[in-house]
Amino acid sequence: MTIPRRLDFPEGFLWGAATAAHQVEGHNFANSWWDWEAQPGRIRDGTRSHPGVDHWTHYEDDFALLASLGHTAHRLSIEWSRVFPAPDEVNHAALDHYRRVLETLRSYGMAPFVTLHHFSNPRWFEQRGSWRVDQIDAFLQFVETVVTEYRDLVRWWITINEPGVYANLGYVEGIHPPGERSLRSAWAALRHLMTAHRRAYALIHRLQPEAQVGISHHVAAYTPYSAHPTDRFIAWLHDRLLNHAILAGLDDPSLTTMAGRALLRPRRPATLDFIGINYYTRSEVRFAPNRPRTLFGDHVPGRQGPKTLFGWEVYPRGLRDVLLALRPYRLPVVITENGIAEESDTLRPRFLVDHLRAVHAAIRAGVDVRGYLHWTAFDNFEWAEGLQMRFGLVHVDFATGRRTPKPSAWLYARICRRNGLDPADWRAAQSGVFSAR
Ligand code: FCB
Repeated sequence: MTIPRRLDFPEGFLWGAATAAHQVEGHNFANSWWDWEAQPGRIRDGTRSHPGVDHWTHYEDDFALLASLGHTAHRLSIEWSRVFPAPDEVNHAALDHYRRVLETLRSYGMAPFVTLHHFSNPRWFEQRGSWRVDQIDAFLQFVETVVTEYRDLVRWWITINEPGVYANLGYVEGIHPPGERSLRSAWAALRHLMTAHRRAYALIHRLQPEAQVGISHHVAAYTPYSAHPTDRFIAWLHDRLLNHAILAGLDDPSLTTMAGRALLRPRRPATLDFIGINYYTRSEVRFAPNRPRTLFGDHVPGRQGPKTLFGWEVYPRGLRDVLLALRPYRLPVVITENGIAEESDTLRPRFLVDHLRAVHAAIRAGVDVRGYLHWTAFDNFEWAEGLQMRFGLVHVDFATGRRTPKPSAWLYARICRRNGLDPADWRAAQSGVFSAR
């Protein structure tokens, strides 16, 4: 299928990429992840986050490059452990640094999206029990400091990145810190994160009434593994619970409200101004009667499309489907992550065009999508997978630090500049021929 005509996006649509502090900055020695990386066997390829991309040192050149690639927005996170290296101790040099970072972005006409919690915690917070215990006040102290400091520069705030994924990987699968495997702890952590969001939402609006506050919510497409009614039912159940329950929990983190609203009556959460969604792939869901821990379903990577280095299926249609399912919330939506890991840049051009077509289809069907932030700008430190998972639009040589835009970065630049897709983009994505202009 080709694109028959130009697909224009709404005026003012925001185009850019998303990052997270610990994945790109380097020099983050005071958080939970630095300690985790030091433990043998935790990072698949044995690599470390430092120096990695060393964006902490090179942010000016990095932003100049992204601006030259047509980006009009950029998502980053502020590293809590830099601002509060110890409880109640503010590091003013770190605050000054992030002010320069945000001012630089603005000077290039790029709208900052700032995440306040993206997986990493200060070491002291982790040692005191992390999110499993109620330390929400400490997080709010950080939020208050940061928002007071940068409210003149930032309008879009993301309180928490992927609360569900954080709780699952850290407390159920145990492959992220603190490495627990306990449903009870996972639920406690998730409840605290959702409550932290609710309280941060009120706090940010008190400090900055015009702020736009959201979360980055991980969603996936869930389809039945077979046409059997039990697979169909369990796929429906997983879609409703995994994609929708957390949105309900932001208002009221009780199991009854979360399940009730997700299954029966989705409604606009009172503590969101927009929904940020992170979409990557599809899982096929198979009924598993003996597995209550996984809600009676097994997930199998989708079997139809090409696979990324992570083993995830490329399934652009799912992005349209998850966006359409957000209609009952009647809220603006921003794609805060969507991307692909691969060694070369073979699948990414087509991935970009097909996912943007899916976004365009959802907009046409009435979803108020305001922006698209590709994951990610630069090849970076992909948590438990280390440096091997190359998700960047820009290639990074980790030995020299050299940045080289990949073909898809040029393709994306054309799309950003013309605020839409052109049949020529589709043809280029097919043939793999791109020019640097
Ligand atoms: C998301 C994370 C992001 C990155 C991508 C690949 O779950 O938010 O930091 O690791 O996956």
